[in-house]
Formats: sequence, C-alpha cells, structure tokens
Amino acid sequence: MGILFELKNVRKIYRMGTEKVIALDDVSLTFEKGKIYCLLGTSGSGKSTLLNLLAGLEKPTSGSIKFRGKALETLSEKQLTLYRQGYIGFVFQSYNLLPTLTALENVTLPLIFRRMPKRKRIAAARKMLKAVGLGNRWRHKPHELSGGQQQRVSLARAFVNEPQVIFADEPTGNLDTRTTYEMMDMITNMAREREQTLIIVTHDTEISQYADQIIRVRDGNIESITEGLGRGPSEEERNLENEKNNSNATGDAPVTDDSNTPSGEYE
Ligand SMILES: Nc1ncnc2c1ncn2[C@@H]1O[C@H](COP(=O)(O)OP(=O)(O)O)[C@@H](O)[C@H]1O
Ligand SMILES: [Mg+2]
Repeated sequence: MGILFELKNVRKIYRMGTEKVIALDDVSLTFEKGKIYCLLGTSGSGKSTLLNLLAGLEKPTSGSIKFRGKALETLSEKQLTLYRQGYIGFVFQSYNLLPTLTALENVTLPLIFRRMPKRKRIAAARKMLKAVGLGNRWRHKPHELSGGQQQRVSLARAFVNEPQVIFADEPTGNLDTRTTYEMMDMITNMAREREQTLIIVTHDTEISQYADQIIRVRDGNIESITEGLGRGPSEEERNLENEKNNSNATGDAPVTDDSNTPSGEYE
C-alpha cells in the first residue's frame, strides 16, 4: 500500500503571551492508503493538533508534513482549501451541522463548494443519507434529530465527496454506549468499503481497537504504535457491556443466577 502522509520531526508550539505550550514535541509518522488509524491519548496530549496539521488548518512550527509527496507547508491558503475540499472529509464530536439547513442541505454543502450541478448534488446527498440509514429524514433540521442521527448526517456529509481521507475527532464523544458502537461500525465499514484512509481521534482504548493501527500520543510525542483488532467488540462483549450499564443505571447489584453458583460441597 502507498504512503499517504509522511511526517518528519513535526513540532508545534503555541505561544500564549509569554508562555510556550509544546502541543507536539517531535513527531515522525507515516499513514498508508486505505488503513484505519486511531490516535489515542488523554486530553491535552496533542491529538487534535496533529489532525489540524494533517488537514493543513495549521502549520507546524518546524518539521515537514507531506501528503502524497507534496509538502503541505509549501502550499498557499488557496491551495490548502482546495486540498481539503478535494481530499478530506471531517467528522466532529459536536457534529458541526448548520442548524438552519435540512439534513439534505447539510450533506450537499461540500458538493456546492466543488461546483457540482444541483440535480447531481441532491441525488448524491440522498444516496449518502440512505447509506447511513436516514433516507426518510432528509427534510429534518438538526434539532429535529437525535444525537446519533445528527452524527450520521455529518458522516454522510464527510463521505459524500468521496474523499481519500476521513478525519474523525472524538466522533462518539457525545453518544451513549450503544450508539457509539453503531457509529463506529458504520464509519469503519464505510471507509473500508471505499478503501479510504480513516484517522480517528479518541481517548477511549476500547474504541481504538476498531483501528488497524493504534498510535498512542502522550505529551506531544508518539508513545507507541501497536496493532488494533481492526473491528469492534463481539456480540457477546457488547451484551456484557449492556448488562453492566443497565445494572449501573438502576443502582442495583449485577444480576446473578444463584442456581448456577457452585456451592461449597463441590469445591
Ligand atoms: N490554539 C491553541 N492555542 C494555545 N494552546 C493550544 C491551542 N490548541 C491546543 N493548545 C494546547 O496544546 C496542547 C494539545 O492540545 P490538543 O491537541 O487539543 O490536545 P487533545 O486533542 O489531545 O486533547 C494542550 O496543552 C492545549 O492546551
Ligand atoms: Mg482534542
């Protein structure tokens, strides 16, 4: 598989008055085409900064980031905008849908920027909304949808352009456990079907298992790179998780079946 991103000694320092914040210290990494990656780390470790640099939304203080061999730091703002519109889809924790637009209109937005004719755009957006299971919700405004549904609209918006890369920054941060798995299944399946590269930011080790590669970020450095399972939890693991949550929610002790508990005489 080809290399998509290549980072060499990337450093990002924010200056707050007289104070210096080292958001990224010295990061060298490669991302390959068609793989699923997870940037895993605690809050403040530098994960979002890394995504912003990859998206060309910010420039590194030093070091270099190449996308398909081209150094992003040499591009003009105009070229960076074209780079984002042409190659990248974004999914955010807080969905970032425009509140006055319908689901359909939100999904067509990236296509408007690409100057696709109206009829084609609407057809493409409706197809994407169907793919995320919202074929009958296209007229709804964001506030008329649940959190999980809003995130699916934003998924449709990210994928509608058929970008090579999808960046998802804590995409399940506002969702409950069940919806989190649904969302993670959907986003990873969609990326795999389309052979896109997916880079997910999370602080949740369980979610990180969906990735092929887990990149642990700590204090602005790469702590480790390990293989993920490349899938979510099994049916059995999900049921266990649900039981745990349900018993926690009611404040009851976990339900146990006493008849199956071995008694002393068999020990
Ligand atoms: N625009 C900014 N100005 C100043 N400091 C920032 C800015 N963005 C991020 N930081 C700081 O850089 C560090 C890394 O932030 P961030 O990449 O957002 O972490 P994460 O996404 O892992 O929670 C934090 O200490 C944060 O406060
Ligand atoms: Mg962040």
